[in-house]
Amino acid sequence: SPGFLALTPPPTPLPSSSSRCPTGGDSALSQEALETLAEEAGFSGSEGRSLAFTRAASVLKALPGQLSALEEGQALGSGLSLSLGQDVLEDGVSVEVERVKLSERYRTMKLFTKIFGVGVRTASRWYQEGIRTLVDLQERNTKLTRQQQAGLQHYEDLNTPVERGEAESIGRMVQEAVQRFLPGASVTLAGGFRRGKPRGHDVDLLLTHPEAGREAGLLSAVCLSPHQGLILYQHSQENSFALHEGPEPPGGRDVLDRFERCFSIFRLEVQGRPGAARGWKAVRVDLVVAPVGQFPFALLGWTGSRHFERELRRFAGHERKMVLNSHTLYDTRLNLFLPAASEEEIFQHLGLEYVPPTQRNA
Ligand code: GTP
Ligand code: MN
Ligand code: MN
Repeated sequence: SPGFLALTPPPTPLPSSSSRCPTGGDSALSQEALETLAEEAGFSGSEGRSLAFTRAASVLKALPGQLSALEEGQALGSGLSLSLGQDVLEDGVSVEVERVKLSERYRTMKLFTKIFGVGVRTASRWYQEGIRTLVDLQERNTKLTRQQQAGLQHYEDLNTPVERGEAESIGRMVQEAVQRFLPGASVTLAGGFRRGKPRGHDVDLLLTHPEAGREAGLLSAVCLSPHQGLILYQHSQENSFALHEGPEPPGGRDVLDRFERCFSIFRLEVQGRPGAARGWKAVRVDLVVAPVGQFPFALLGWTGSRHFERELRRFAGHERKMVLNSHTLYDTRLNLFLPAASEEEIFQHLGLEYVPPTQRNA
């Protein structure tokens, strides 16, 4: 895995007084277990703990081969022990993970946050109100946004993985629509599929045009034009990025960018879908338009993974005093933007070896 990822978190050896593995006697410490704990911490609003578990899961994934429980514990560091808490240390991680998985709150939160447009806050409120099932939601006439209505309506499809072939079909559909409106414009498959994943939860497409400025308004052609019912839901946002405002402070809005974009649900024709009563499937599609000068930054930002992006931006800030986002790279010591014509050049500016997309799955 890329060197800068290994820099965080620093491997803190266990205090020598502890003869036990910090993760409990049973040592069933798996990536999946840590991801469940990260999810549960997120559901409880403990972002810090959630991040500690996510990082630990990522470190565990990067560790070569099978390690003993003690070695694992040492590699994961003492931050994890702190996050786990004393009771878990005594009972063991797998006991805790089982408890979490069986708890009504965890299961309900998971059900609700899988609805497109529902975050932890909404799910938590519904849980407080005693709502437990999707049927409850409908029967109680819970107030839903247009996005949540679409999410509920297509719940099953949207929680069925998107296959690579399906992502490629959608890419071609968008490419055709884009070409008709603006010849020369390009469509690039980003997100997990660009990292080589065989399936994903949505299709991320990045649009641009080789002449700066020509790309403006491109999305309305794809998302708003009457597409014979191809688009089941769409929510567009205009570009709000202005270079003269200067860079965002590090750690500010480092995830969200301000490109013209469209969160949508496409209706994809599918042939011979086993067990399906209809010949189509709802698929989540994210469309983003970047001016060509920002394209490499947008591509890097929208390829992910989320964890990779977070660590890369953290590295840029802490180690290089640079602000990296999906629009630009800003050097705070030289007080200037560092332009890049490719992802390779961004890694060069950061003083890192190039990391190809397939190695950004951390
Ligand atoms: P799956 O879709 O779950 O298969 O994985 P994925 O890695 O493609 O995840 P996702 O589609 O959620 O995100 C892809 C990349 O886009 C990630 O690196 C995210 O950080 C990034 N991303 C998602 N939403 C936003 C956003 O609103 N702004 C920015 N800048 N990046 C985003
Ligand atoms: Mn994606
Ligand atoms: Mn996405």
